[in-house]
Parts: sequence; C-alpha cells; structure tokens
Amino acid sequence: MSAVFRGENITYRVNNKTILDSASFEIEKGKAYALVGCNGSGKTTLMKILSGIILDFEGELYFYDKKVDKTSFDELFKNGFYKKVGYMFQETELQLFNLTVFDEIAFGPRQFMNDERKIQERVLEVAKFLNIDNLLESDILTLSGGEKKRVALASILANNPEVLILDEPTNDLDPKSIRFFARILKQLKDVGKTLIVSTHHFDLLFRLADYTILLSPDHRILKIGTTKEILEDKNLLIEAEVIDEEFEV
Ligand SMILES: Nc1ncnc2c1ncn2[C@@H]1O[C@H](COP(=O)(O)OP(=O)(O)OP(=O)(O)O)[C@@H](O)[C@H]1O
Ligand SMILES: [Mg+2]
Repeated sequence: MSAVFRGENITYRVNNKTILDSASFEIEKGKAYALVGCNGSGKTTLMKILSGIILDFEGELYFYDKKVDKTSFDELFKNGFYKKVGYMFQETELQLFNLTVFDEIAFGPRQFMNDERKIQERVLEVAKFLNIDNLLESDILTLSGGEKKRVALASILANNPEVLILDEPTNDLDPKSIRFFARILKQLKDVGKTLIVSTHHFDLLFRLADYTILLSPDHRILKIGTTKEILEDKNLLIEAEVIDEEFEV
C-alpha cells in the first residue's frame, strides 16, 4: 500500500462545535500536497491530527497500516511516529523553546542519538542547508521572524522525517525568502519526502504541490485534485472563499 495516511470520515469537535467535518483522504508517499482553505476552515486542525498532536477525533486515521488514535499514543511514540512525521507550527513561537539555535536544532537528534560529535555534524549539515549556520550560537529570542521560520524547519529536518507537515511556512516572509523556502521544499520533494503544506500563497508554494486538498468554510473537504485542476477552477476557489471574483489566479 502506497498511502502514507488514510483518513476515513474524520470529524473533530470542540465544545459541540465541529471544526473538521467527515474528512476522507489518502496521502500518497513521495507526493506534495497543498492544503488550501479560507481562514478558520480547519487546515491547522487537520495538520495537527495528521501529526499526532490531536488524537481525540472521530473517524479513522491510518499511518500506513497503523491506526492512529488516542489509545495508540505510546505505541506510535515507540515506533518512531513522531520522528517520521515532522510538524512545523503555524505560530513559530510555539515551536521554539530552547535558548540557542544550536540547541533548538540539536533537540530532536539528542532524543535519538548519543554521540555528541554526530549530533553536531547533523546540526551543521541542516543549518547549512537552510543557510543559518551563521546563527547557531544566537539566542532564539533575538532572531527575526523569518530566521525563526528557518530554525523551526531546521529543527524538524534534523530528525530526517519522511513526512513533513508544514503549517503556513512562508507566512510573514519577504519575497526572496519565500522563493528560498520554495526551493528547499522542491529539494525535499526531489529526495522523496512526502509534503503537506498549508498556504495562502498562490504562486510558488501552491504550484509546487502535485495535489491540492481544498477545504470549505464549513470545514469539509471540498475537493482533492491535481493542483492544476484546482487552480484552474476559479468558481470552486470562490466557493471555498479563498478568492473573490476579482482575483486573478
Ligand atoms: N481548541 C479549539 N477550541 C475551539 N475552537 C477551535 C479550537 N481549535 C480550532 N478552533 C476553531 O476551529 C476553526 C478551524 O481552525 P483552524 O486553526 O484549523 O483553521 P485554519 O484553516 O488553520 O485557519 P487559518 O488560515 O486562520 O490558520 C476556527 O474557527 C477555530 O476558531
Ligand atoms: Mg491555520
């Protein structure tokens, strides 16, 4: 079976309010997915479910043939689920919690390796890839917003996950940095990573995705299709309330 994730009728409710409604989908290994929907449609919620952060949902979720639910947390943890699936928070501040950039990137590898020299090599390799090797000794609190995004991605890549779930990774970035991120994501895709990326950027990032999952304002999956076919369907994007009539796709 080539599906990394399979969801069947996944519904998530908080205080009787449905914030994800009957989501069914398959995520294929090695493909890139854009997750698109208006503000509040449920993108972050779906990503947190896929990342094993929210486990008390209704319906069924499988990671390969393993069922993911609140009873399986210990087993998922033991089987390395949280190493294989990396989640980058929409709010970068929530993710970074170490004092220095080095320690932040080293945190993951330190859970799985104990040779400090190897850990250093890994941190340096990832930091160079994201062009932040000059920041390794910096205090996290002194970083700019864009630098924090790179550190957050580096800390996830340090574990070499096979699935990357990135929640609006290019928010608040300048145009050059957005292009940099798009190049990085393309390279990750080319080495076979499975990518799920939520974005409001209709240019680079969206077009990088093989498939797009489009959410509706009432928290349902409106359509899963090739990115090309979804981008070309202006009426569908209007129905999803991600664009209005005047928007040029
Ligand atoms: N724990 C919670 N308790 C109550 N409501 C919640 C909770 N988490 C999310 N919601 C609500 O569920 C809806 C979906 O939220 P979510 O963060 O998944 O949307 P989103 O598509 O990521 O939006 P954005 O584009 O603004 O990031 C929103 O209306 C939000 O207010
Ligand atoms: Mg969100």
